[in-house]
Amino acid sequence: MQYLVMTGLSVCSYQFMYLPLCLFLRTWISGNDITFLYSPDVNHCQLLCTQHPSCLFFTFIRADWTHDDRHFYCYLKSTPSGEPSAQTPVQGATSGFSLKSCSPDPQPCLSEVYQNMDFPGADYRYLFTGDHEECQRVCTQDPACQFFTFAQENFSITKIRYKCHLKFSWTVPRTPVIERKFLFVAYVSFPNVFPLLNLACQRKLFPNTGIAGRDIESLPAASPEHCQILCSTHPRCTYFTYNRNSMGMWRTTLEANSKPIAQVTIKCGIYEGDALSPLLVAYEGVDFKGSDIRYELMDDADTCQKTCTEDPHCQFYTYVDETFFDRSYWRHCFLKRVITIPAPPKVITLTNVVSGFSLKNCA
Ligand SMILES: *[C@@H]1O[C@H](CO)[C@@H](O)[C@H](O)[C@H]1NC(C)=O
Repeated sequence: MQYLVMTGLSVCSYQFMYLPLCLFLRTWISGNDITFLYSPDVNHCQLLCTQHPSCLFFTFIRADWTHDDRHFYCYLKSTPSGEPSAQTPVQGATSGFSLKSCSPDPQPCLSEVYQNMDFPGADYRYLFTGDHEECQRVCTQDPACQFFTFAQENFSITKIRYKCHLKFSWTVPRTPVIERKFLFVAYVSFPNVFPLLNLACQRKLFPNTGIAGRDIESLPAASPEHCQILCSTHPRCTYFTYNRNSMGMWRTTLEANSKPIAQVTIKCGIYEGDALSPLLVAYEGVDFKGSDIRYELMDDADTCQKTCTEDPHCQFYTYVDETFFDRSYWRHCFLKRVITIPAPPKVITLTNVVSGFSLKNCA
């Protein structure tokens, strides 16, 4: 941990007894870049790193970066050793560490508003409001809204002035890749979904039924029920189709604006009730590939499920039992998660607009 005190440029706080939380201003951390995501500020970038399954530290490119036109890039990084391989002083970047070990709130309050910053894309609705505070209030009250961009009264294009764009990003776990293997047992829990699911509840699933309509998004889901949860939280999804193609991959299509045909009833009660248990559904024969936080060896899938439930970072798991062809994976319980904080698809500078997040998670 000696690198935590390496430079006079670092800003540390000691709110957690043994773990100074430092941001290294004007520092580029070298390490394997896992990926980059857009982020409006360094604190949001740090939260992205914290929620990413394998990110250990990050470098955020601020607006005052002058080396090239990358701005608001949040590089998520890791090294096999778990420590940065080097830190280089540079103007316009801030680096720091994941807060994974601090038990961070999985749904933090993002109260900052950003003047002259646009979050382009991800729009699902707009309206006109008097100011950005009202726009943010509308966003907070709309269950689907995660962030917004508001054009101020002096915005260059007259007809867009006072326009409040409401925007959506997934805050329920989507599984990145799902492979169908009858030798696995996997599991998903959706603790974050509850606040969003007091919608009119459509209890029915329609097996062997395709829906003609415009696909708004196609993504993997473990089961028709998982697909239904994803559809329920998407502001433009009214119906979904769930199917499995001949390659053994599972796919989900969220569809809008069309009518389903045949019927079968499923229990809708699984979306309501007490804090966790109703949504604990085990999916046998499904592997959620990647997104591993860590693995542990254990005797059965039930223990793996319990371990996942007790770990605040774990959203879903894969357990490999002794029927799997490769012995080296036997008894492995892989605990998994994906990023669920609101994340704009892009962040750019734009004069006289204000962007920000919904205040749903703010007390
Ligand atoms: C545009 O209006 C906003 C809000 O009133 C103000 O903060 C900002 O400074 C104005 N920009 C210019 C260039 O006048």
